Amino acid sequence: MTRARTLAGLPALLLSVLLLTAAPSCARDVRAPDAAATTAQSAATPPGNAVASAHALATEAGLAVMREGGNAFDAAIATSAVLSVVEPISSGLGGGGFFLLHDAASGRDIFVDARETAPASAHSDRYRTADGGFDRDRAENGPWSAGIPGLPAAFVHIAERYGALPLSQSLAPAIRIAEEGFPVYARFARGYQSRRAVMERYSGTRAVFLADGRAPEAGDIFRQPDLARTLRLLAERGFDGFYGGETGAKLVAGVNSEGGEWTAADLAAYRVVERTPIRFRYHDWEVVTAPPPSSGGIAMAQMLQILEPYDLPRLDDAARTHLVVESMRRAFRDRTFYLGDPDFVTIPQRTLTSRDYAAGLRATINPEKATPSDLLSGSVTPLEDEETTHFSIIDAAGNRAAVTQTVNLLFGSGLVAPGTGVLLNNEMDDFALQPGVPNAFGVMGFDANAPAPGKRPLSSMTPTFVVSDDRVAVLGTPGGSRIITMVLLGILGYDAGLDAQAVATLPRYHHQWMPDAISAESNAFSADTAARLRALGHTVNLPGDRAAGGRGSSHVWGNLQTVEWNRATGVLSGGSDPRNDVGEAKVEPAAR
Ligand code: GLY
Repeated sequence: MTRARTLAGLPALLLSVLLLTAAPSCARDVRAPDAAATTAQSAATPPGNAVASAHALATEAGLAVMREGGNAFDAAIATSAVLSVVEPISSGLGGGGFFLLHDAASGRDIFVDARETAPASAHSDRYRTADGGFDRDRAENGPWSAGIPGLPAAFVHIAERYGALPLSQSLAPAIRIAEEGFPVYARFARGYQSRRAVMERYSGTRAVFLADGRAPEAGDIFRQPDLARTLRLLAERGFDGFYGGETGAKLVAGVNSEGGEWTAADLAAYRVVERTPIRFRYHDWEVVTAPPPSSGGIAMAQMLQILEPYDLPRLDDAARTHLVVESMRRAFRDRTFYLGDPDFVTIPQRTLTSRDYAAGLRATINPEKATPSDLLSGSVTPLEDEETTHFSIIDAAGNRAAVTQTVNLLFGSGLVAPGTGVLLNNEMDDFALQPGVPNAFGVMGFDANAPAPGKRPLSSMTPTFVVSDDRVAVLGTPGGSRIITMVLLGILGYDAGLDAQAVATLPRYHHQWMPDAISAESNAFSADTAARLRALGHTVNLPGDRAAGGRGSSHVWGNLQTVEWNRATGVLSGGSDPRNDVGEAKVEPAAR
C-alpha cells in the first residue's frame, strides 16, 4: 500500500492556492462500474480511457481514436499530431519529442527517442560571428537553429510497432483540423506577436501566418492546407512520405534558400531510437522516466534519492524548500558537465543515479545554510520564454503514454519550409554551441553536449510514470530547464497524497545551479518563507522583484498535464494545468 501522506502536512498557503485555483472543468473522474468491489484490492484494468493535454481538440482526438478501437499508442499519435496543428507555438512535425510508453500486456516500458539530430553541416564554428563571438541569432532563429525533425518518424515507428490502427486513421483528426482550421486562442496570438519579427523574415512563414494579410488574432479561424497535405503524405507513404519525396525535397529547399545547409541525406538518415528508461524507487513509488539525451531522468533520480530520507511534508515551508532547492542545485551542476547524447558520449549514468552517490551529495547539504553554487562554479544568466508541450494517456487496458514534444522556443526557429506548412524547430540551441555559454534557458554545457553531425542535443523533457501498489500516474510539462523541477514537484505532490488536478495546480519554484538563485511563481512562497529562505543565504527571485535586485520572471510557468489511475479506489482521473485555458483532462468510461 502507498504510505499514507495527508494534506495535513502541506503548507497552508499551498492548500489555499489549491482550493482557490483548482479548475474543476479541467478534470473528470470515472469510477469503475463496481467501484465498491475494487476498493479493497487492486483493479486489473482502468475503468476507461483518460487523456490530459494542452488543447481540448487534442484531448478529444486521443479519446476519439480510442473509441474507434485504438489503444493508448494510437491515441498518442492522434493527440501529438493534433497538438502539432493547433499549438505550433509549442511543438510540431518540424520538431521532436520523447514518447514514454507502457505496454500493459507485456509489462514493458518503452522509451521512443524522437529528438531532433544535428545536420551534417552542424559544427560549433558555424555559430560564431565574424569577430569570433557567439552568434545567438543563428542559434535561436532561422535555418541554422533547426535540427532534423523527429516527430514524424516517431508516428511511423509507434504505429507500426505498437498501434492497433493504421496511421491514416490516427492522423485523420489532425488532417481534418489542419484543413478546416481552429479558433486562434489568446496564448497563440500573444506568442505570435512576441516572435513575429523573426517569423516574418521568411516567405514560407508569412504565407502561413499572414494568409489573411494580417497577424492571427484571437477568434480567427487558422487553416493550414499545406500542413494537411504534408500529414496526408506521411499517412499514405510512411517515413518516405516526410523524409523523402516531395516533402523531403521542399524541406531541404526551404532551409537552403534561407542560407542553411541541409541535404536529402540528412533527412534520409534520421532514425528514432528506443532506449531503456531510467527506473528507480522513491518511497513506495517506482519512478520510470526519461534517459539521455534527456537530462530529466538522471536529475530526477538524483534529486529524489537525495530527498528520500527527509520527511518533507512535516517540515515547514522554508526548511522543505531549502532542501528541495539544494537537491536541484546539485543535480543541475552534474547536468552541465556530464550529460549529452549517449550515442556520442560516455555518461556515468550508473554512478549518477546510484543511492550512494545521492547520499554523498546529501552529506554536502547544510540544513542551516544555502551552498553557494560557485563552491560547486559558473555564471549568471536570465531565463527566457520557453515552449514545448506534454500530454498524458491511460487506456482501459492499462497501457500508458507520457509524451513531451517540442519545437523549442516559441514557434521554434520561426521558419516554415515553403509549401510544407512545417514550422522548423530551433533545437540546435539546446546544444552547448559554445562551451560554457548559456543557452536560452540559462543552462550551459561543455564537451558532452557539443554539437556534431547526427548528434542529439541534450533535453530537459521528462515524461514520467510513477507507480505504487495502489496508484499509477503519468505526468510531464513544458518549461525548458524548469521541466525537471516541475516534474519533481509533481512527484512530491503525488507522494504527499494530492490528486491529479491538485498536482497540475501546485505552485512552482526552481533552482538550476546557475544562476545561483531560486526563481518562483508569485504564489509559491509566503512573505515569511521568502524571508527565511533569504536568511538561509538563498537569492530568491520573485516575479516583479526587479527593484529588489532579482530578475523576476513570468508570473506562472509550465503546462502540466497528468492522468492517474487509483487501483485501490477504481478511480481514473485527470488534471490539466489551470495556467492554460485551452487545455483539457477528460476521462471516458470504457465500452465494455
Ligand atoms: N527544447 C527544450 C528541451 O528539450 O529541453
